Amino acid sequence: MAKLGVNIDHVATIRQARGGGEPDPVAAAVIAELAGADGITIHLREDRRHIQDRDLKILRKTIRTKLNLEMAATDEMVEIALAVKPDMCTLVPEKRQELTTEGGLDVRLHLQTIEKAIARLHDGGILTSIFIDPDSDQIKAANKIGADYVEIHTGSFADAPDWKTEEQELIKIENAIKLAVKLGLGVNAGHGLNYANIKKVAALGGVEEYNIGHSIISKAVLVGLDRAVRDMVELIKYA
Ligand code: PXP
Repeated sequence: MAKLGVNIDHVATIRQARGGGEPDPVAAAVIAELAGADGITIHLREDRRHIQDRDLKILRKTIRTKLNLEMAATDEMVEIALAVKPDMCTLVPEKRQELTTEGGLDVRLHLQTIEKAIARLHDGGILTSIFIDPDSDQIKAANKIGADYVEIHTGSFADAPDWKTEEQELIKIENAIKLAVKLGLGVNAGHGLNYANIKKVAALGGVEEYNIGHSIISKAVLVGLDRAVRDMVELIKYA
C-alpha cells in the first residue's frame, strides 16, 4: 500500500508571515502523524523562507514516523543533513525567485555535484532521493550516480491545461515509474497532487510514497489538519 508523506512547509509559511512562533510546524507534524501520515517532509531552503533550522532540529527529535528533508545539493545543506541525520534527503533544484520548486533537478547537467552529495549523505547513513521530471534519461542518470530513490515530479500532470495533455503527462509518469522500478530504484512522487487528481496517479501503482503539501494544508485551514490528512490517507489507501 502506498504511503503519504505530509509536507508541512506551508505551516511555517503562515508562521513566517508574522515572524512569531505560531503556528508551529512541530505541532503540525504531531497531528499529521496521529492522523495517519507515514512521514513528514520539510524543505529547508537557502533563503529560509519557511522552515527554519530550529524546526529541523526539533522535528528530528519529535517525529515518530520518517523525516524526509528536501534540500539543494550544496555543501551547506549536506553539512546540516549530516549533523541532523534525517531518514531521507530528497535533492531538489532551488531558485530564489520561484514560488515553489518549479521543475525536477537536472541530474545530467549537475552530475558530479549531485554524485558527491549522494556519496557524502550515504557515508552518513542517510537514504537519498532525487526530485526529477518523468524523463528516462534523468532516471538513468539518477540510478548511475547511486540514488536510492527518485521522486517523480507530477507538476506537469497536475497543471495540465486540458484532459488530453493530462493524459499525456500521466503516461510519462507511468513510463517513468516503470523504468525506475526496473532499475531497482525506489519511487516517490509529488508536486501539485490534490484530492481530485491523486486517484489517477495512485491507480498507476509502483509508487512507494506520495509527498503532498499545498492541497493538504489548504484544506486544513478550512476543516482542520486531522481531517485533511485522514481524507488523503483514505484516497491513497483505496486507489
Ligand atoms: N515534492 C517536492 C520535491 C517538493 O518540492 C514539493 C513542494 O515543496 C512537494 C513534493 C509538495 O508539493 P505540493 O505542495 O504541491 O503538494
